[in-house]
Amino acid sequence: MIVITGATGQLGSLIVASLLERVPGEEVGVSVRDPSRAADLAERGVRVRRGDFSEPNSLADAFEGATQVLIVSANELGGKAVDAHAAAIDAARAAGAERILYTSHQGASAVSLFAPMLDHAATEGYLAETGTPFTSLRNGFYATTVPFILGQALTTGEIVAPADGPVSWTTHADLAEAAAVLLADPGRFDGPTPPLTAPDVFDLQDVAGILTKLTGRTIRRTVAEDDEWAAGLTAHGAPEARMPSMQAPDSPRRPILRMQRTRASSRESARTTCQVPSGELSSTKMASNGMPARRKKTRDTTPATRRRRRRLGRKRLTVRQVNPNAVNSTRQ
Ligand SMILES: NC(=O)c1ccc[n+]([C@@H]2O[C@H](COP(=O)([O-])OP(=O)(O)OC[C@H]3O[C@@H](n4cnc5c(N)ncnc54)[C@H](OP(=O)(O)O)[C@@H]3O)[C@@H](O)[C@H]2O)c1
Repeated sequence: MIVITGATGQLGSLIVASLLERVPGEEVGVSVRDPSRAADLAERGVRVRRGDFSEPNSLADAFEGATQVLIVSANELGGKAVDAHAAAIDAARAAGAERILYTSHQGASAVSLFAPMLDHAATEGYLAETGTPFTSLRNGFYATTVPFILGQALTTGEIVAPADGPVSWTTHADLAEAAAVLLADPGRFDGPTPPLTAPDVFDLQDVAGILTKLTGRTIRRTVAEDDEWAAGLTAHGAPEARMPSMQAPDSPRRPILRMQRTRASSRESARTTCQVPSGELSSTKMASNGMPARRKKTRDTTPATRRRRRRLGRKRLTVRQVNPNAVNSTRQ
């Protein structure tokens, strides 16, 4: 049986839906905090059990008989997130799961200045140490995040945000389909996957251009100073500790994980963690040559950047390459 957690959440529910197109309902189980919200799945023959990462006994019941468990990362941060994921991993192993899948992030890194990336890296490290075969789905940035970044742009005509780089915004539906494909074909990908992303990248200047075309109104991109922008956010209630530029580089955020923070530029860090060594791809069925064919040219593709990419010899994997028949492509 394949057990999926977070099946009443946005990504988990789409993974279950996509998996049910590939395997019979009787082979699928869900672990949810509120089974009444999964009644429709029970009607389709899916085993619905209550499971909460903070209650190990509930997980033992929810994961019973699982050959694979897919853990959807909890919407928590820091020690709470890592503890929750570790509890789920422990429970999956205790249930005898032969493979554990985890929804990580394309930027998972122990030295990222973006807090959730530390949690994903720590969870991947914990998984790797267990010795149980695992697949860490390095999901791209959710396309659903873009409207939050835009803020009041449609009213003010201005996207105000710090300097940014190109991002391959990816839909939940595409990521869910990639997860379902890998669940239905266990072992097809072992360990951390290459980044699972849409094929095209856009920076906020590009987004401003798209909005201008869509609305017929000029939307400008304005680059805000990091500190000014962070101060604005904290003034509106965002916790200061979440602001990268305000954190000490050696802040002991995760003593149990012995993480080290560095002053690496977040842009540089994003670039290197968004790519994987080509060697990682070469032994897999999903390997592809070169960057996605339709990779959009942006300000980031300067000759220096291209030289650096060539030097690193890195490649990326699009969701479409996991499943070339994907219907929910985020191609524009
Ligand atoms: N790739 C990205 O850009 C990106 C962006 C934001 C977040 N994320 C990560 O991706 C995850 C999934 O995204 P999403 O959009 O599906 O979020 P979501 O709709 O909030 O789903 C999160 C799921 O985790 C479950 N959950 C939370 N705490 C739990 C616990 N203690 N025990 C068991 N289950 C628990 C929730 O259960 P309930 O249904 O009962 O609430 C929910 O089903 C997020 O939780 C976050 O870790 C990724």
